[in-house]
Amino acid sequence: GASAAQGGPLAGKHVLVTSGPTHEPIDPVRYIANRSSGKQGHAIARAAAALGADVTLVTGPVALADPAGINVVHIETAQEMAQAVANALPADVAIFAAAVADWRTTAQKQAKIKKSAGGKPQLELTENPDILAGVGNRTEGRPTLVIGFAAETENVVAEATRKRQTKGADWIVANDVSPARGVFGGDGNTVHLVTAHGVEDWPTLSKDEVAARLMAHIADHFNSKAS
Ligand code: CTP
Ligand code: CA
Repeated sequence: GASAAQGGPLAGKHVLVTSGPTHEPIDPVRYIANRSSGKQGHAIARAAAALGADVTLVTGPVALADPAGINVVHIETAQEMAQAVANALPADVAIFAAAVADWRTTAQKQAKIKKSAGGKPQLELTENPDILAGVGNRTEGRPTLVIGFAAETENVVAEATRKRQTKGADWIVANDVSPARGVFGGDGNTVHLVTAHGVEDWPTLSKDEVAARLMAHIADHFNSKAS
C-alpha cells in the first residue's frame, strides 16, 4: 500500500543484526577475541534501515560510530550477545554477521595474571553458545529468515553448506578469509550466497554493496515469497 511505498520495501519488518567481535576476558586487562572490524555487519544494519526496516544492531566492541536511526545494543562477551539477541526477538529477519569468540575462559581471574608468578598461565576454555544455531533451530518464535555468515580459509562453499544445515539457517553468506585475500578490516568482500536452491557466486564488491545486495534479496523474498 501507500505507506509501504513511502516507508520502503521492508517497512514494518524488524531486522536483527549481530556485528563485530566478542571479547572474552582472561583477567581485567586481557581478552580472547576474533578478528572483526564490524564493517560488514554495520553496513547490513544501515542497508536494512535504508529499506525502511526497524533495525536492532547487537554489536561487540568496534571502532565504528553507531549508525543513525538504529537501535544499537553494545555487548562484550558471547554470552552477553546471546542474551541481547534473545531480548531483541521477535524479529522477521535475523542476520548473524558477528565474529563470535568460540571459547571463553572457564574461570575469569579477578586479579591481573603476573609474569612474576612464574611459568605460563594455563587457560581452561569452555565453548560459547552458538547464537545463530540457537535462533535457527528454534521451534517457536523463529524469524522468517535466518541468515548466517561463514568466514572460511578453505573449502568455503562446502563448509558454508554444512553450517547452513547444522545451524538451521536459511541462507549463509560465505566469504573466503584466507590471508591472501586480505578481507579483514578492508572494504571489499568476495562472497557466495548459499541457499536451499544452491550457490550464487557474487563478484568482489564493497561491504556496502554486499549489504545492499543482500538486503535487496531479502526484500525480494518478502515480496515474492519465491526463495
Ligand atoms: N556464530 C554464532 N555464535 C557462535 C559462533 C558462530 O552466532 N558462538 C555464527 C556467526 O555469527 C556466523 C556463523 O555462526 O554467522 C558461522 O560462524 P563461524 O565461526 O564460521 O562458525 P563456527 O560454527 O564457529 O565454526 P568454526 O569457527 O569452527 O569454523
Ligand atoms: Ca567460529
